[in-house]
Amino acid sequence: MDVLRRLSIKWRGLLSLSLLSSMVFASLIYVDISHGEAIIGDPAQGINDPILGSKHDFSGLNRRAGVVAMPGVAFSDYGNPCVYCHIPPEQADSDSIALGAIEGWNRYQPATDTFQLYDSKYLDSKTRTPSPISLLCLSCHDGTMGVDMVVFRPDQFDSTQDKAMHMRINGEDNTVSCGKCHNGRVAHDIAIKHIGTDLRNDHPISMRYAGLLRSDPDFRLPHTPAGFDNGVRIYEGRVECASCHNVHNPEKDLFLRVDSDMLCQTCHTK
Ligand code: HEC
Ligand code: HEC
Ligand code: HEC
Ligand code: HEC
Ligand code: HEC
Repeated sequence: MDVLRRLSIKWRGLLSLSLLSSMVFASLIYVDISHGEAIIGDPAQGINDPILGSKHDFSGLNRRAGVVAMPGVAFSDYGNPCVYCHIPPEQADSDSIALGAIEGWNRYQPATDTFQLYDSKYLDSKTRTPSPISLLCLSCHDGTMGVDMVVFRPDQFDSTQDKAMHMRINGEDNTVSCGKCHNGRVAHDIAIKHIGTDLRNDHPISMRYAGLLRSDPDFRLPHTPAGFDNGVRIYEGRVECASCHNVHNPEKDLFLRVDSDMLCQTCHTK
């Protein structure tokens, strides 16, 4: 079974467990913040889930940044920070792929034929289409879809509260781009977070890791099939965005799994 499916089933399992035994878990999972709104955290971690308060916490952004105009205009606040990526537990049995979802995630499949992946004649293993876990990231960071473009909104979300604009990660000055404000003057510049669909200048992704089974002297052998002891991950034998970044851990700059001076040599021997 696909690793991510397992992960999302685990998450769903944890959440439905929490719903069933809400009396017991209520205080841990549903955390009352100042104005009485419930936030669902990782049941294992509750309010300590490090994604809360990070740049990927879209239900808390407004409060933190103190900009009412953000979720008031730019994107809908679904009141649950997890659903911007994960399928909500109440939709666990829906056929999300039939609705156009990326397999295992609550986001629409970007138009994959537009991606131009890194290529070079030196690359051992060529890939044309990013894997689902990288499509997840690209569904926001390629700048083609709104940050709040989820397949399922939480049942509790009142659709009359939906916002008219669904802005994208894009530095342009127009009403579909966060760059309307995030231009380095009104607010910090978002352009650098916009990876786009041309990935030829970025680190290759979704190719098989050449260091598996000690098959290539330029690459180190991972400690386990899931990756290296320092946290760098290999997903089903492949390198993905999440090999280097962990959106669940803002401890290191840019959500890197390892400080950038040590990151490259985790895999590359030279
Ligand atoms: C920006 C996207 C994003 C958001 C928002 C997000 N997650 Fe995740 N989550 C991921 C990714 C990517 C993974 C897979 C990470 C990995 O293990 O490589 C993951 C993995 C998980 C896992 C499995 C971890 C494990 O090691 O088994 C759980 C549980 C989880 N998320 C819960 C949550 C909860 C609860 C929230 C809301 C508080 C949340 N996530 C918000 C992207 C997200
Ligand atoms: C739901 C939309 C969404 C998804 C999905 C998403 N991101 Fe992001 N990400 C954002 C936004 C918005 C920001 C903040 C941009 C800003 O501050 O200008 C961000 C910021 C980042 C940053 C920069 C953090 C910093 O401190 O400046 C990194 C790195 C990143 N994301 C990587 C990822 C990776 C890797 C994935 C997939 C596992 C992912 N993102 C999935 C929306 C998303
Ligand atoms: C009406 C203007 C406006 C719009 C539109 C807007 N923002 Fe913001 N945003 C701000 C301001 C002002 C801040 C606070 C100053 C800063 O962080 O640069 C901010 C802060 C942020 C932060 C940092 C929060 C933190 O606590 O670190 C993120 C992330 C962010 N915005 C993402 C977005 C995304 C994604 C969009 C588009 C979907 C968006 N913003 C649209 C004005 C706006
Ligand atoms: C081989 C490791 C690796 C892979 C794979 C990788 N990144 Fe990164 N990423 C980095 C490093 C290192 C940085 C910071 C240094 C830099 O600017 O390049 C970074 C920077 C970023 C930033 C922040 C840009 C900024 O300076 O604020 C975003 C957003 C991001 N990556 C998203 C992604 C996404 C999305 C993918 C998959 C399409 C991806 N990354 C794949 C290592 C990686
Ligand atoms: C998770 C393992 C991993 C990490 C971490 C990693 N790489 Fe890579 N890198 C690879 C793989 C695998 C390839 C593709 C090799 C192939 O198939 O020929 C690659 C390819 C490259 C290429 C293209 C080489 C070519 O043959 O065209 C460059 C450049 C590169 N990496 C630089 C970096 C830098 C810089 C860092 C640190 C920011 C880094 N890598 C971190 C695994 C990794």
